[in-house]
Amino acid sequence: MINLKSAREIEIMKGASRIVAEILLELRGSCRAGATTADLDRIAHDLTLKNKAIPAFKGYRGYPASLCVSVNDEVVHGIPSPKRVLKEGDVVGLDFGVIYDGYYGDAAMTVPIGEISPELQNLLDVTEQSLYRAIEQAVPGNSLSDLSAAVQRLADANHYGIVREFCGHGIGRALHEDPPVLNYVQNGKGPKIKPGLVLAIEPMINMGTERVRVLEDGWTVVTEDGKPSAHFEHTIAVTPDGPIILTRV
Ligand code: MF3
Ligand code: CO
Repeated sequence: MINLKSAREIEIMKGASRIVAEILLELRGSCRAGATTADLDRIAHDLTLKNKAIPAFKGYRGYPASLCVSVNDEVVHGIPSPKRVLKEGDVVGLDFGVIYDGYYGDAAMTVPIGEISPELQNLLDVTEQSLYRAIEQAVPGNSLSDLSAAVQRLADANHYGIVREFCGHGIGRALHEDPPVLNYVQNGKGPKIKPGLVLAIEPMINMGTERVRVLEDGWTVVTEDGKPSAHFEHTIAVTPDGPIILTRV
């Protein structure tokens, strides 16, 4: 069941989402060679409490940290570790959410460490662009599949693999609400886009195969071919005039 939000609820969700955006920007600034992924998690956790918010992921289905940090061939849900040291040329997916005033905000970005190859930069650019193309489609009267098609078009044009096992989602008083937001088109047009729809849109795109597997830790999703992956996510709200990005400072 899709839970449309009132203008008042969207205002509250802006508050939660702004905290997420501010913390992600801070984390991006802390992504440097020599930092560990556990350092980033601690920063995320401390800033969340400072903002009087609750880390959304910690304890979610038993997830052990506040932040997901997914390096290179890790697609999503990488568990922070003091042993994982970032190095020049890495790409680091940061996925973060909070609960504030009873509502969730959720966003992600993939950050380069120092110089990265042009091929890798293109993967990041295309994945981020595909997110913005999808957001542009979030206008009343369109269908959900218009968002999915926008992501798929760009990924396909670059011969990248679109991760199929994970997708975006509705978001509100729960982290994951209806509808699922696929990054490829499947089974018709899907529900109509209406004012009050709030979505976390999150393309996960691989340089090589679309196929992924989960490591023995039960969380970390990696590409089957070991090639890198990118992930960008925003929480957005549909208004009568079109989409607004909530996870923005
Ligand atoms: N952004 C991710 C999602 O929407 C965050 C969930 S990860 C978990 O699924 F660790 F909380 F499970
Ligand atoms: Co999400």
